[in-house]
Amino acid sequence: MYNFEDILQRRNNGSKKWNEEYIEKRFKVKDAANYYPLFIADMDFKLPKEVIEPLMEFIALGDFGYFDIKEEFYNSILKWYKDRYKSEIKREWIVPSIGALSTMNVMVDKLFKKGDSILVFTPAYGPFKDVVFNNGMNLVSYKMKLNNNRYSLDFEEVKALVEKEDIKGLIICNPHNPSGRCWSKEEINDIINICMEKNIIIISDEVHGDLDLGNNFNTFSDYLNKYKNIIVLSSPNKTFNIAGLEISTFLCSNEEMKNSLEEELSKRKLHPNRVGTRALTLCYENGSPWVDELIKNIKENLDLTVDMLNVEGISTMVPDAGYLLWVKFDNISDIDDFIIKLAQEKKVLLETGSRFIKDHEGYLRINVATSKAILKEAIPMIVEFYKEYIK
Ligand SMILES: Cc1ncc(COP(=O)(O)O)c(C=O)c1O
Repeated sequence: MYNFEDILQRRNNGSKKWNEEYIEKRFKVKDAANYYPLFIADMDFKLPKEVIEPLMEFIALGDFGYFDIKEEFYNSILKWYKDRYKSEIKREWIVPSIGALSTMNVMVDKLFKKGDSILVFTPAYGPFKDVVFNNGMNLVSYKMKLNNNRYSLDFEEVKALVEKEDIKGLIICNPHNPSGRCWSKEEINDIINICMEKNIIIISDEVHGDLDLGNNFNTFSDYLNKYKNIIVLSSPNKTFNIAGLEISTFLCSNEEMKNSLEEELSKRKLHPNRVGTRALTLCYENGSPWVDELIKNIKENLDLTVDMLNVEGISTMVPDAGYLLWVKFDNISDIDDFIIKLAQEKKVLLETGSRFIKDHEGYLRINVATSKAILKEAIPMIVEFYKEYIK
Protein backbone atom coordinates (compact mmCIF):
# COMPACT_ATOMS: atom_id res chain seq x y z
CA MET A 1 0.00 0.00 0.00
CA TYR A 2 2.83 2.42 0.81
CA ASN A 3 5.98 2.55 -1.28
CA PHE A 4 9.01 2.75 0.98
CA GLU A 5 11.38 2.49 -1.98
CA ASP A 6 10.15 5.82 -3.33
CA ILE A 7 12.14 7.87 -0.82
CA LEU A 8 12.36 11.63 -0.31
CA GLN A 9 14.76 13.49 -2.57
CA ARG A 10 16.71 15.26 0.11
CA ARG A 11 20.08 16.18 -1.37
CA ASN A 12 20.69 19.80 -0.43
CA ASN A 13 17.08 20.53 0.44
CA GLY A 14 18.31 21.42 3.94
CA SER A 15 18.09 17.90 5.37
CA LYS A 16 21.08 17.53 7.69
CA LYS A 17 21.57 13.90 6.77
CA TRP A 18 21.93 14.78 3.08
CA ASN A 19 23.51 18.22 3.33
CA GLU A 20 26.78 18.19 1.36
CA GLU A 21 28.36 21.03 3.30
CA TYR A 22 27.63 19.35 6.63
CA ILE A 23 28.84 15.96 5.37
CA GLU A 24 32.08 17.42 4.01
CA LYS A 25 32.85 19.01 7.38
CA ARG A 26 31.79 16.14 9.59
CA PHE A 27 33.38 13.32 7.58
CA LYS A 28 36.37 15.29 6.29
CA VAL A 29 35.49 14.53 2.69
CA LYS A 30 35.52 16.64 -0.45
CA ASP A 31 32.68 16.80 -2.93
CA ALA A 32 29.96 15.08 -0.90
CA ALA A 33 27.70 14.34 -3.87
CA ASN A 34 26.72 10.66 -4.27
CA TYR A 35 27.22 9.67 -0.66
CA TYR A 36 25.24 7.06 1.25
CA PRO A 37 24.15 8.73 4.49
CA LEU A 38 23.26 6.07 7.05
CA PHE A 39 24.20 8.04 10.15
CA ILE A 40 21.77 10.53 11.84
CA ALA A 41 18.61 8.91 13.25
CA ASP A 42 16.35 10.31 10.57
CA MET A 43 14.29 8.36 8.01
CA ASP A 44 14.16 8.92 4.25
CA PHE A 45 10.57 7.73 3.88
CA LYS A 46 7.68 9.88 2.63
CA LEU A 47 4.82 10.47 5.04
CA PRO A 48 1.45 9.09 3.90
CA LYS A 49 -1.13 11.31 2.23
CA GLU A 50 -3.45 10.77 5.23
CA VAL A 51 -1.08 12.99 7.19
CA ILE A 52 0.30 15.26 4.47
CA GLU A 53 -2.99 16.26 2.81
CA PRO A 54 -4.78 17.57 5.92
CA LEU A 55 -1.53 19.22 6.98
CA MET A 56 -1.39 21.00 3.61
CA GLU A 57 -4.98 22.13 4.10
CA PHE A 58 -4.05 23.49 7.51
CA ILE A 59 -1.02 25.30 6.09
CA ALA A 60 -3.08 26.70 3.21
CA LEU A 61 -5.24 28.53 5.76
CA GLY A 62 -2.19 30.67 6.38
CA ASP A 63 -2.89 31.27 10.06
CA PHE A 64 0.33 30.89 12.01
CA GLY A 65 -0.39 33.44 14.70
CA TYR A 66 -0.42 32.97 18.48
CA PHE A 67 -2.59 30.02 19.31
CA ASP A 68 -3.97 27.76 22.02
CA ILE A 69 -3.55 24.02 21.78
CA LYS A 70 -6.83 22.41 20.88
CA GLU A 71 -8.42 19.51 22.72
CA GLU A 72 -7.96 17.32 19.63
CA PHE A 73 -4.19 17.39 20.33
CA TYR A 74 -4.70 15.75 23.74
CA ASN A 75 -7.34 13.37 22.41
CA SER A 76 -5.01 12.13 19.68
CA ILE A 77 -2.37 11.27 22.30
CA LEU A 78 -4.87 9.51 24.60
CA LYS A 79 -6.08 7.45 21.65
CA TRP A 80 -2.56 6.66 20.47
CA TYR A 81 -1.57 5.32 23.88
CA LYS A 82 -4.79 3.34 24.18
CA ASP A 83 -4.71 1.83 20.69
CA ARG A 84 -1.03 1.13 20.40
CA TYR A 85 0.00 0.37 23.99
CA LYS A 86 -3.30 -0.47 25.71
CA SER A 87 -2.20 2.19 28.13
CA GLU A 88 -4.79 4.36 29.86
CA ILE A 89 -3.01 7.63 30.41
CA LYS A 90 -4.85 10.66 31.75
CA ARG A 91 -5.51 13.94 30.00
CA GLU A 92 -4.17 15.90 32.95
CA TRP A 93 -0.78 14.17 32.76
CA ILE A 94 -0.02 15.41 29.23
CA VAL A 95 2.22 18.42 28.71
CA PRO A 96 2.85 19.65 25.15
CA SER A 97 6.39 20.80 24.63
CA ILE A 98 9.17 21.64 22.20
CA GLY A 99 11.73 19.02 21.04
CA ALA A 100 12.40 16.12 23.40
CA LEU A 101 16.00 17.06 24.13
CA SER A 102 15.31 20.74 24.70
CA THR A 103 12.51 19.67 27.05
CA MET A 104 14.79 17.27 28.90
CA ASN A 105 17.34 20.03 29.28
CA VAL A 106 14.80 22.27 31.02
CA MET A 107 13.51 19.37 33.11
CA VAL A 108 16.89 18.39 34.44
CA ASP A 109 17.69 21.99 35.34
CA LYS A 110 14.38 22.43 37.16
CA LEU A 111 14.16 19.08 38.93
CA PHE A 112 17.69 18.73 40.25
CA LYS A 113 20.21 20.85 42.12
CA LYS A 114 23.70 21.73 40.91
CA GLY A 115 26.06 18.90 41.76
CA ASP A 116 23.30 16.26 41.95
CA SER A 117 24.24 12.87 40.54
CA ILE A 118 22.27 11.59 37.57
CA LEU A 119 22.54 7.97 36.48
CA VAL A 120 22.63 6.66 32.91
CA PHE A 121 23.14 3.11 31.64
CA THR A 122 26.03 2.93 29.19
CA PRO A 123 26.62 2.91 26.33
CA ALA A 124 24.12 5.76 26.33
CA TYR A 125 22.73 8.29 23.89
CA GLY A 126 25.39 11.05 23.72
CA PRO A 127 23.23 14.16 24.30
CA PHE A 128 22.22 12.88 27.78
CA LYS A 129 25.72 13.93 28.80
CA ASP A 130 25.14 17.48 27.55
CA VAL A 131 21.83 17.67 29.38
CA VAL A 132 23.52 16.72 32.65
CA PHE A 133 26.69 18.78 32.21
CA ASN A 134 24.90 21.87 30.81
CA ASN A 135 23.04 22.07 34.09
CA GLY A 136 26.04 21.61 36.37
CA MET A 137 25.19 18.09 37.46
CA ASN A 138 27.28 15.02 37.87
CA LEU A 139 26.95 12.12 35.40
CA VAL A 140 27.23 8.64 36.88
CA SER A 141 27.31 5.74 34.48
CA TYR A 142 26.49 2.11 35.00
CA LYS A 143 28.13 -0.13 32.42
CA MET A 144 25.54 -2.58 31.17
CA LYS A 145 26.33 -6.27 31.04
CA LEU A 146 26.64 -7.90 27.66
CA ASN A 147 25.13 -11.39 27.58
CA ASN A 148 24.63 -13.18 24.28
CA ASN A 149 25.10 -9.92 22.43
CA ARG A 150 22.33 -8.25 24.44
CA TYR A 151 22.63 -5.55 27.10
CA SER A 152 21.26 -6.13 30.57
CA LEU A 153 21.38 -4.75 34.09
CA ASP A 154 22.54 -6.42 37.27
CA PHE A 155 20.06 -4.94 39.71
CA GLU A 156 22.15 -5.64 42.79
CA GLU A 157 24.99 -3.67 41.22
CA VAL A 158 22.66 -0.86 40.16
CA LYS A 159 21.24 -0.69 43.68
CA ALA A 160 24.70 -0.53 45.22
CA LEU A 161 25.76 2.19 42.80
CA VAL A 162 22.63 4.23 43.52
CA GLU A 163 23.45 4.14 47.22
CA LYS A 164 27.14 4.78 46.84
CA GLU A 165 26.72 7.75 44.51
CA ASP A 166 23.60 9.16 46.18
CA ILE A 167 21.78 9.21 42.86
CA LYS A 168 18.97 11.78 42.53
CA GLY A 169 17.82 11.07 38.99
CA LEU A 170 17.84 8.39 36.32
CA ILE A 171 17.67 9.15 32.62
CA ILE A 172 16.72 5.94 30.89
CA CYS A 173 16.37 5.43 27.19
CA ASN A 174 13.43 3.10 26.58
CA PRO A 175 13.92 1.63 24.01
CA HIS A 176 17.63 2.00 24.42
CA ASN A 177 19.56 4.01 21.87
CA PRO A 178 21.99 2.83 20.40
CA SER A 179 21.03 -0.87 20.77
CA GLY A 180 17.22 -0.69 20.33
CA ARG A 181 16.82 -2.84 23.45
CA CYS A 182 13.34 -2.64 25.05
CA TRP A 183 13.12 -3.06 28.81
CA SER A 184 10.86 -5.86 30.00
CA LYS A 185 8.07 -5.36 32.57
CA GLU A 186 10.18 -7.18 35.17
CA GLU A 187 13.16 -4.93 34.51
CA ILE A 188 11.00 -1.81 34.67
CA ASN A 189 9.58 -3.06 37.98
CA ASP A 190 13.05 -3.59 39.36
CA ILE A 191 14.19 -0.16 38.20
CA ILE A 192 11.14 1.47 39.75
CA ASN A 193 11.58 -0.38 43.02
CA ILE A 194 15.17 0.78 43.35
CA CYS A 195 14.19 4.35 42.50
CA MET A 196 11.12 4.42 44.76
CA GLU A 197 13.15 3.35 47.74
CA LYS A 198 15.52 6.28 47.25
CA ASN A 199 13.01 8.81 45.94
CA ILE A 200 14.86 9.04 42.64
CA ILE A 201 13.22 10.84 39.73
CA ILE A 202 13.05 8.75 36.56
CA ILE A 203 13.03 10.41 33.16
CA SER A 204 12.13 7.78 30.59
CA ASP A 205 12.95 8.86 27.06
CA GLU A 206 10.53 6.83 24.93
CA VAL A 207 10.87 8.60 21.59
CA HIS A 208 11.75 5.34 19.80
CA GLY A 209 8.98 3.32 21.48
CA ASP A 210 6.41 3.49 18.68
CA LEU A 211 8.71 1.59 16.36
CA ASP A 212 8.38 -1.62 18.35
CA LEU A 213 9.30 -4.48 16.04
CA GLY A 214 7.42 -7.19 17.94
CA ASN A 215 5.51 -6.62 21.15
CA ASN A 216 8.66 -5.76 23.04
CA PHE A 217 8.00 -2.22 24.22
CA ASN A 218 6.69 -1.49 27.71
CA THR A 219 6.05 2.12 28.59
CA PHE A 220 6.85 3.62 31.98
CA SER A 221 3.54 5.47 31.64
CA ASP A 222 1.84 2.32 32.93
CA TYR A 223 3.49 3.09 36.29
CA LEU A 224 2.54 6.76 36.51
CA ASN A 225 -0.40 5.97 38.78
CA LYS A 226 1.73 3.99 41.18
CA TYR A 227 4.91 6.07 41.29
CA LYS A 228 4.76 9.85 41.20
CA ASN A 229 8.41 10.46 40.41
CA ILE A 230 8.32 9.36 36.78
CA ILE A 231 8.31 11.54 33.71
CA VAL A 232 7.75 9.93 30.31
CA LEU A 233 9.03 11.83 27.31
CA SER A 234 7.41 10.85 24.07
CA SER A 235 7.22 12.24 20.62
CA PRO A 236 6.16 11.55 17.03
CA ASN A 237 9.57 12.82 15.87
CA LYS A 238 11.19 9.45 15.27
CA THR A 239 8.03 7.54 14.31
CA PHE A 240 6.97 10.03 11.64
CA ASN A 241 10.29 11.73 11.04
CA ILE A 242 9.11 15.20 11.99
CA ALA A 243 12.05 16.20 14.20
CA GLY A 244 12.29 19.47 12.24
CA LEU A 245 8.94 20.49 13.71
CA GLU A 246 10.31 20.40 17.28
CA ILE A 247 7.29 18.91 19.00
CA SER A 248 7.14 16.43 21.86
CA THR A 249 5.03 15.75 24.91
CA PHE A 250 5.76 14.54 28.38
CA LEU A 251 3.58 12.74 30.87
CA CYS A 252 3.75 13.43 34.58
CA SER A 253 1.22 12.32 37.19
CA ASN A 254 2.77 14.38 39.97
CA GLU A 255 0.73 17.56 39.89
CA GLU A 256 3.22 19.69 41.73
CA MET A 257 6.11 18.54 39.56
CA LYS A 258 4.09 18.90 36.38
CA ASN A 259 2.99 22.44 37.28
CA SER A 260 6.50 23.53 38.11
CA LEU A 261 7.82 22.16 34.80
CA GLU A 262 5.04 23.83 32.85
CA GLU A 263 5.76 27.10 34.63
CA GLU A 264 9.45 26.80 33.83
CA LEU A 265 8.78 26.20 30.12
CA SER A 266 6.44 29.14 30.10
CA LYS A 267 8.89 31.35 32.00
CA ARG A 268 11.53 30.59 29.39
CA LYS A 269 8.99 31.28 26.61
CA LEU A 270 9.41 27.78 25.23
CA HIS A 271 6.14 27.00 23.49
CA PRO A 272 5.50 24.36 20.85
CA ASN A 273 4.86 25.72 17.38
CA ARG A 274 1.52 25.70 15.67
CA VAL A 275 2.44 23.49 12.68
CA GLY A 276 4.14 20.98 14.98
CA THR A 277 1.10 20.59 17.21
CA ARG A 278 -1.18 20.12 14.20
CA ALA A 279 1.26 17.63 12.66
CA LEU A 280 1.41 15.60 15.89
CA THR A 281 -2.39 15.49 16.01
CA LEU A 282 -2.65 14.31 12.40
CA CYS A 283 0.12 11.72 12.78
CA TYR A 284 -1.58 10.20 15.81
CA GLU A 285 -5.09 10.46 14.39
CA ASN A 286 -4.37 9.11 10.91
CA GLY A 287 -0.91 7.55 10.93
CA SER A 288 -1.41 4.18 12.61
CA PRO A 289 -1.83 2.06 9.41
CA TRP A 290 1.27 3.69 7.94
CA VAL A 291 3.29 2.95 11.10
CA ASP A 292 2.26 -0.72 10.88
CA GLU A 293 3.60 -0.88 7.32
CA LEU A 294 6.66 1.13 8.25
CA ILE A 295 7.50 -1.38 10.97
CA LYS A 296 7.25 -4.26 8.46
CA ASN A 297 9.53 -2.39 6.13
CA ILE A 298 12.07 -1.64 8.87
CA LYS A 299 12.15 -5.35 9.76
CA GLU A 300 12.83 -6.23 6.13
CA ASN A 301 15.59 -3.64 5.93
CA LEU A 302 17.13 -4.91 9.15
CA ASP A 303 17.03 -8.53 7.93
CA LEU A 304 18.60 -7.50 4.66
CA THR A 305 21.33 -5.50 6.37
CA VAL A 306 22.10 -8.15 8.99
CA ASP A 307 22.34 -10.72 6.23
CA MET A 308 24.84 -8.66 4.29
CA LEU A 309 26.89 -8.06 7.45
CA ASN A 310 27.09 -11.75 8.25
CA VAL A 311 30.86 -11.90 8.05
CA GLU A 312 33.52 -13.01 10.50
CA GLY A 313 34.52 -10.19 12.81
CA ILE A 314 31.23 -8.28 12.52
CA SER A 315 28.43 -8.79 15.04
CA THR A 316 25.08 -7.05 14.81
CA MET A 317 22.80 -6.34 17.75
CA VAL A 318 19.33 -6.68 16.26
CA PRO A 319 17.04 -4.08 17.86
CA ASP A 320 13.72 -4.80 19.59
CA ALA A 321 12.54 -1.42 18.34
CA GLY A 322 13.64 1.23 15.88
CA TYR A 323 15.66 1.39 12.71
CA LEU A 324 19.14 1.66 14.17
CA LEU A 325 21.57 -1.22 14.14
CA TRP A 326 24.41 -1.29 16.68
CA VAL A 327 27.30 -3.18 15.16
CA LYS A 328 30.60 -4.38 16.61
CA PHE A 329 33.67 -4.65 14.40
CA ASP A 330 36.48 -6.78 15.80
CA ASN A 331 40.10 -5.72 15.55
CA ILE A 332 39.42 -2.04 15.12
CA SER A 333 41.18 0.04 17.74
CA ASP A 334 40.09 3.46 16.46
CA ILE A 335 36.48 3.43 15.27
CA ASP A 336 36.55 7.15 14.41
CA ASP A 337 39.39 6.55 12.00
CA PHE A 338 37.47 3.65 10.45
CA ILE A 339 34.36 5.82 9.98
CA ILE A 340 36.27 8.67 8.34
CA LYS A 341 38.25 6.40 6.02
CA LEU A 342 35.10 4.47 5.09
CA ALA A 343 33.48 7.78 4.13
CA GLN A 344 36.52 8.89 2.16
CA GLU A 345 37.06 5.62 0.33
CA LYS A 346 33.58 4.12 -0.07
CA LYS A 347 31.27 7.13 0.40
CA VAL A 348 29.29 5.36 3.14
CA LEU A 349 28.49 7.55 6.15
CA LEU A 350 27.89 5.87 9.50
CA GLU A 351 27.47 7.03 13.11
CA THR A 352 30.62 6.37 15.09
CA GLY A 353 30.23 4.66 18.46
CA SER A 354 32.25 7.41 20.11
CA ARG A 355 29.31 9.79 19.84
CA PHE A 356 27.67 7.70 22.59
CA ILE A 357 28.52 7.82 26.29
CA LYS A 358 31.15 5.23 27.22
CA ASP A 359 31.49 1.51 26.47
CA HIS A 360 31.34 1.86 22.72
CA GLU A 361 34.76 0.52 21.75
CA GLY A 362 34.66 -1.04 18.28
CA TYR A 363 31.00 -0.15 17.72
CA LEU A 364 29.25 1.91 15.13
CA ARG A 365 25.59 2.49 14.32
CA ILE A 366 23.85 1.98 11.00
CA ASN A 367 20.54 3.65 10.13
CA VAL A 368 18.50 1.33 7.87
CA ALA A 369 15.56 3.71 7.37
CA THR A 370 16.23 4.27 3.71
CA SER A 371 15.52 2.42 0.48
CA LYS A 372 16.59 -1.18 0.02
CA ALA A 373 18.29 -0.03 -3.18
CA ILE A 374 20.62 2.19 -1.14
CA LEU A 375 21.24 -0.48 1.49
CA LYS A 376 22.10 -3.04 -1.19
CA GLU A 377 24.77 -0.74 -2.56
CA ALA A 378 26.12 0.64 0.71
CA ILE A 379 26.29 -2.33 3.07
CA PRO A 380 28.52 -4.57 0.90
CA MET A 381 30.92 -1.63 0.65
CA ILE A 382 31.19 -1.51 4.45
CA VAL A 383 32.09 -5.21 4.49
CA GLU A 384 34.56 -4.83 1.65
CA PHE A 385 36.20 -1.87 3.35
CA TYR A 386 36.37 -3.67 6.72
CA LYS A 387 38.25 -6.57 5.15
CA GLU A 388 40.73 -4.19 3.54
CA TYR A 389 41.07 -2.11 6.74
CA ILE A 390 42.04 -4.97 9.07
CA LYS A 391 44.47 -6.58 6.64
C1 LIG B 1 16.77 8.71 22.58
C2 LIG B 1 16.58 10.01 21.87
N1 LIG B 1 16.05 11.05 22.55
C3 LIG B 1 15.84 12.24 21.96
C4 LIG B 1 16.19 12.44 20.64
C5 LIG B 1 16.00 13.77 20.02
O1 LIG B 1 14.66 14.17 20.09
P1 LIG B 1 14.28 15.65 19.65
O2 LIG B 1 14.72 15.80 18.23
O3 LIG B 1 12.80 15.72 19.79
O4 LIG B 1 14.99 16.58 20.56
C6 LIG B 1 16.75 11.38 19.90
C7 LIG B 1 17.16 11.56 18.50
O5 LIG B 1 17.81 10.76 17.90
C8 LIG B 1 16.94 10.14 20.53
O6 LIG B 1 17.47 9.09 19.89
